[in-house]
Amino acid sequence: MWGDTKPMLKSRGGGGGGGGGDEDGDYFPNTPRKDWSTGLLKLVTAMVIFMAGVVIGLSVSANVSRYYYNSHTELFFPTATYSSCDRRGATGDCGPGFKAFVHPPQLAHSMTDEELFWRATLVPTADEFPFQRVPKVAFLFMTRGPLPFAPLWERFFRGHQGLFSVYLHTIPDYKLNVSKTSPFYGRQIPSEEVSWGSITLVDAEKRLLANALLDFSNERFVLLSESCIPVFNFPTVYEYLINSEHSFVESYNIDTPQSAGRYNRRMAPHILPEQWRKGSEWFELNRELAVRVVADLKYYSIFRKHCRPSCYPDEHYIPTYLHLFHGSLNANRTITWVDWSRGGPHPARYGAGNINVDFIKAIRNNGTQCLYNSKHTSVCYLFARKFAPSALGPLMNLTSTVLDF
Ligand SMILES: *[C@@H]1O[C@H](CO)[C@@H](O)[C@H](O)[C@H]1NC(C)=O
Ligand SMILES: *[C@@H]1O[C@H](CO)[C@@H](O)[C@H](O)[C@H]1NC(C)=O
Ligand SMILES: *[C@@H]1O[C@H](CO)[C@@H](O)[C@H](O)[C@H]1NC(C)=O
Ligand SMILES: *[C@@H]1O[C@H](CO)[C@@H](O)[C@H](O)[C@H]1NC(C)=O
Repeated sequence: MWGDTKPMLKSRGGGGGGGGGDEDGDYFPNTPRKDWSTGLLKLVTAMVIFMAGVVIGLSVSANVSRYYYNSHTELFFPTATYSSCDRRGATGDCGPGFKAFVHPPQLAHSMTDEELFWRATLVPTADEFPFQRVPKVAFLFMTRGPLPFAPLWERFFRGHQGLFSVYLHTIPDYKLNVSKTSPFYGRQIPSEEVSWGSITLVDAEKRLLANALLDFSNERFVLLSESCIPVFNFPTVYEYLINSEHSFVESYNIDTPQSAGRYNRRMAPHILPEQWRKGSEWFELNRELAVRVVADLKYYSIFRKHCRPSCYPDEHYIPTYLHLFHGSLNANRTITWVDWSRGGPHPARYGAGNINVDFIKAIRNNGTQCLYNSKHTSVCYLFARKFAPSALGPLMNLTSTVLDF
């Protein structure tokens, strides 16, 4: 429909199940030459006897506190040396497993943003993953709290476990009430206060990206809001994103006060007027670009300092940063439909009365052509905004027909 179906991009799977047996090999140096290894053995034996003496000495001393006893014992005889850990059966005191490292099972953590962003931008150097990596699409929901379209999204995700992950940024301490079987259950990330139009919105975007990067199978990252809906079914969205050669971040510059007019001369020489870009906040990034955005501190700081109302960092930072360094990876268009035709500072908002088959059809194909992997297609928008909660009922009615999920 929008070009050839290609093999999954960057699915570096392979090697599944291999590499388990001797992966610790490198941690132990080769056996040294016999002569000095005998000497070493004697030395070690002597040291162990000496340390045991010290520990016994300390433990029998009435003046030594319990605390000291414990810490010295741990120093000389780390408990790990003696605990059993059957790696194959994963029993005993094995520490956090490899699975939990590559696919964090729960999202709670105590990292600061600085720590999280650093951790999230660690990139594997090896060519292959030691597990079967099925690339996933990460759906990043930037919300205040309630999710009026949760039932619609639940229907959309149904039956596609393993191909997607969900992340929610809410106001701090908000408790989302969904059933345990919902894809939204337990998916709230540690969130901070966001004031709309300020740099804190970019912070929240980076926080969503960074938390999603911790799962090494996430390959594409879509930012959505609580008023967004999907307009195609999951398999269509998945194939479109996973097989795309480009990321979808709207990027342009026109000579208006809302676009070029927001440039601040103090950004030079790092950002020149002709490098300035504007675009919708609602991005789609591949993993490589997501890492770049989370890792960038230099340009982020420039925006933090010099892009203040009526400059809105969320509409300029990522488009400008990508244009400066990664323009060739960007399609420069958004995949989230919105209606600005009525003018004014806010786009049109659609409620129950607006929803019908023809309206959804017109979003799925509104007569515009766009480029997908350098070929023309009529499938330009996968998501749409903004919808009022009253639209839920009529939209649920359309899932089995025009929405096709
Ligand atoms: C959560 O939702 C359920 C079902 O809709 C409802 O019965 C329950 O009262 C809600 N709990 C809270 C704390 O809002
Ligand atoms: C998007 O814009 C960049 C310049 O920032 C350009 O290099 C790139 O070719 C454009 N992408 C497409 C698909 O035209
Ligand atoms: C299709 O939708 C986009 C986004 O709202 C809009 O810019 C464009 O003008 C529309 N095209 C037509 C032919 O209505
Ligand atoms: C769903 O569709 C049925 C049959 O077309 C209609 O009677 C009903 O009012 C619709 N429900 C909503 C919430 O739109």
